[in-house]
This record gives sequence, C-alpha cells and structure tokens, in this order.
Amino acid sequence: MRKLCFAALALVCPFFAADVALTPPMGWNSWNKFADKVDDKTVREIADALVSSGMKDAGYVYVNIDDTWEGERDAQGNIQSNAKFPDMKALADYVHGKGLKIGIYSSPGPKTCAGYAGSYQHEAQDAKTWATWGIDYLKYDWCSADKVYQASDMPVVYKKMSDALKATGRPIVFSLCQYGLQNVWEWGAAAGGNLWRTTGDIQDGWKSMSTIGFDKQLGHEKYSGPGHWNDPDMLEIGNGGMTRPEYITHMTLWAMLAAPLLAGNDLRSMTDETRDILTNKEVIAVDQDPLGQQARRVSKSGTEEIWVRQLSNGDLAVAFFNRGEMMTDITAYWTVLGLEGKHKVRDLWKHASVGTAKDLFTADVPQHGAVIVRIAR
Ligand code: GLA
Repeated sequence: MRKLCFAALALVCPFFAADVALTPPMGWNSWNKFADKVDDKTVREIADALVSSGMKDAGYVYVNIDDTWEGERDAQGNIQSNAKFPDMKALADYVHGKGLKIGIYSSPGPKTCAGYAGSYQHEAQDAKTWATWGIDYLKYDWCSADKVYQASDMPVVYKKMSDALKATGRPIVFSLCQYGLQNVWEWGAAAGGNLWRTTGDIQDGWKSMSTIGFDKQLGHEKYSGPGHWNDPDMLEIGNGGMTRPEYITHMTLWAMLAAPLLAGNDLRSMTDETRDILTNKEVIAVDQDPLGQQARRVSKSGTEEIWVRQLSNGDLAVAFFNRGEMMTDITAYWTVLGLEGKHKVRDLWKHASVGTAKDLFTADVPQHGAVIVRIAR
C-alpha cells in the first residue's frame, strides 16, 4: 500500500503517513565536527567512509548535511545550494549509489542559526526542491523563527513543514530542532515529527553529555516510540573531548534512551577504538529494538544510576552508570528490576556471557563509565 501510495498514487494520497523512523534514525551529521567547513567533497568522502569502516553494515545510513549549505534563492524563489555544494542532486545520487540516504537542514525562520536562508514563506516550495534532489531527511531548526512567530506557534509551524514534506510523496524523516522548548515531547509527534531535540546543543565534554543524557531525559520515556523519538542530540564519540569510558557511557546511554544515533566525528580518520564504540552491534541492537521502549531510571544512589529497558523478545537491557570519580561496583536487585529466580546475563561491551545470576547482579563500573547487560527471560 505504501509503495503504491508513494509511486502511482502520490497525487491522490499525499498525506498518507510514511513508515519512516520505525526505529531511531542512524547515520552521520556534519555539524559537531565540521560546522561551516562542510562541503560536497567532505560529504562524499564521509559516505565512502561510512561504507568502508563498517558503519553502514552496523546500521548507520543517513548522511546529513547540517547548516551552511544554503545559497541564494533564484528569481522564482527556489532555494539553491551555495558554492560549497555545486550540485545537490548529483551529491544525493552519489550517496544513494552507496546504498545510503541523505539529509539536509533548514529553519522555519527567515534565516538559519548560522545566518543562511531559511524556509520562511517558502515551505512547500523548499520541500518540493528537496524531494526533487532526492533528500531523505530534514532537520528543521527554529533559529530566527522567533523573529516572525510566537513560541506558542511552534506546533502549527512544524506541522506546516511536515504537511509540505508529505505532500511531496517522498518519505522524508522530519527532525524537529527547537531545543526542547514548549515541552515538544508532548506535541512533536502530532506536529509530524519523527524525532525532536529535547535540549540545547551537546558539546564534546563529560559535563554537557552527562547532563543532557542523564538529567534532561528523565520522564520523557512515555512520549517516545516507533516513528517518533526523543533526541538528546548527536554523538560526540571520537571528537576527542572525552575519555574512552565517557564515550562508552555516551553510546550506552543513547542506546538505552532509544536515541537517534548520528555520529558527529570525522569518519575518514577515526581510530579503531572510536569505530569499535560506534559499531558495537549488541549495543546498537538495544537502541534499535523494535519495541521502541525508551529506558527509565530505576535507581539512583549518589553518583550511581541503574537504567532499564524492556526489549521486544522479553529480555531486559540493564545499564549501570558510574558518574563518580572512583571505580565502583553497582548492584541491581531483582526486586528493583521486577525479576525473580535465575537469569542468564550477557555483557554487551565484553561481548560475552557472564553466567547465570540469582536475585541480583553486580557490575564493576569504572569512573564515568558504564556497563550494559542483557538479562534473558
Ligand atoms: C543549532 C542546532 C545545532 C546546529 C546549529 C547549526 O545550534 O541546535 O544542532 O544545527 O544550529 O547552525
């Protein structure tokens, strides 16, 4: 039905919902590492690296160009790319030729956050242009929209672009970026969002990542599910500002949160250590679990936290986090996890079974580190 709708019947059923983002989107985004230095050549090389590094095989498929690609509008008002991106359609074809998908960025305001042309008063026209280029994903960033709208207009403003994207007949993932304002988790899905940022911008440091990941996601789990996800922002893994245990915490926590996994590093030159963290298939399987149930925190004692996520085959994913400055052991009691009796436990960073546990399981967790296990049921 969906195929029919998007092909032959696109004209008569343009508002038929696309089955996109049934699990959290995975891919790469240019902003964290490249900011305004992103260009056509870099994007092509990143697409190559996604394939050659094994990232694509691990599930990372979206190659997302963030802000600073935009040029002037032509006499008819059509948005054009700037000199860094000579031919967006050709670039999209190149990315698609690798079996990947391509994303782009705009703002509902007159200008983007970096001061380039936004989509204000050109919403349907821009959506059509992007569909013509072959775009598969849009990040729509509030930025200067507060100059022309009230904050309370956000649901209507985002719905306008969602409708414009659907009217193109092309399945396009719609990513809301307005930093968690107006409790977006309460209305983001109804506005057509497949994901919505829950906070301001992440930075490549422990304080930023841990505050966003642990403290600012609490209680949002009920709003997330297949097709509509909380987005604690893009990954910083491999950008150099955190230790290996901290990046393991970043990956573990994002997987527990059913967060979009958008790598934000230079994939062309990443170390084996970075690649191994980003491509841990057992941790990714938790992120991508089809039930789509975001974890909740079940215990916090000082700097020690335990988060739990129900998985589709009945297993539990349990993550042990140590936000403190010393190695510690953290115990999860079955009473807290809702379990009874004996259960097999598998450590997803060790890639090994760690035996059968009864009544409790204890993990040794390094400073700022994480352990994630899968408990069979
Ligand atoms: C905002 C967003 C970032 C990035 C920049 C680009 O700050 O939150 O993720 O897109 O704009 O200008």
